[in-house]
Amino acid sequence: MTCPLKQMDTMDNITQYLTTGYIARDVRCFDEVASTNTEAKHARDAQNGALFIADTQTAGRGRLGRSWISPKGCGIWMSLLLTPDIAPERIPQITLVAGMSVCRAIGAGAMIKWPNDIVIGTKKVCGILTEYSGGRVICGIGINVNTRAFPEELSHIATSIYLQTGRETDRAALTAAVMNEFEPLYDRFLSGGFAALSDEYKARCVTIGREVTVTGAGEAVSGTATGITPDGGLVLDTENGQKIITSGEASVRGIYGYI
Ligand code: BTN
Repeated sequence: MTCPLKQMDTMDNITQYLTTGYIARDVRCFDEVASTNTEAKHARDAQNGALFIADTQTAGRGRLGRSWISPKGCGIWMSLLLTPDIAPERIPQITLVAGMSVCRAIGAGAMIKWPNDIVIGTKKVCGILTEYSGGRVICGIGINVNTRAFPEELSHIATSIYLQTGRETDRAALTAAVMNEFEPLYDRFLSGGFAALSDEYKARCVTIGREVTVTGAGEAVSGTATGITPDGGLVLDTENGQKIITSGEASVRGIYGYI
């Protein structure tokens, strides 16, 4: 599947929309790569803030070993290289910061499904995969932008901005908008910790107030999501009292067809 759109002239077009100081000031565009995360990982000459973008990925990677479908010309498949001087346990919080940036940039009622899926309505429009390698953080972001249709097996879970709004989006402008949102949020995160952002994250989090089952971090835990901790954990009210979940896969009643 491809999108019947003009090619994204990323290098020129993104730069004209950028308001950042150091994020995405080195943009590397590819027609096709296996994965932009892998590309960023291997670019030893790239510095903090470098952005890697591909028009299509042949082996796009998702969380938990899943693959990420990245059809040509339909979406934004990009990876941001970061070299933060922070404790390793804070690195996963960068994913939450990236999620907030995407949410702000997309608008259109986009919300965050904890920890880092972006949804519009009940379906996923963006996924984020943050990896840590050799002292560098690679934050990979996949946004379904102008996708017209998804394979049958994904159609109850996945959506695109086009399918939700009926309008085509300029991918270069949206890429720059995400970067423009990311830089100030990331700077606040570096100086003030995730606590400086957790109120806004909570306000954008569709998981809050819903019934949730979290798997993947030991025993499954179910309860009602009631809050976000200052370090990005999910507060669940369970029948055995309050629990703080710091990682795992959250199934949220009402989202992705879970009833
Ligand atoms: C998920 O929700 O499972 C995370 C999906 C992350 C996909 C993006 S697309 C750009 C970057 N390159 C990859 O191979 N994966 C991430």
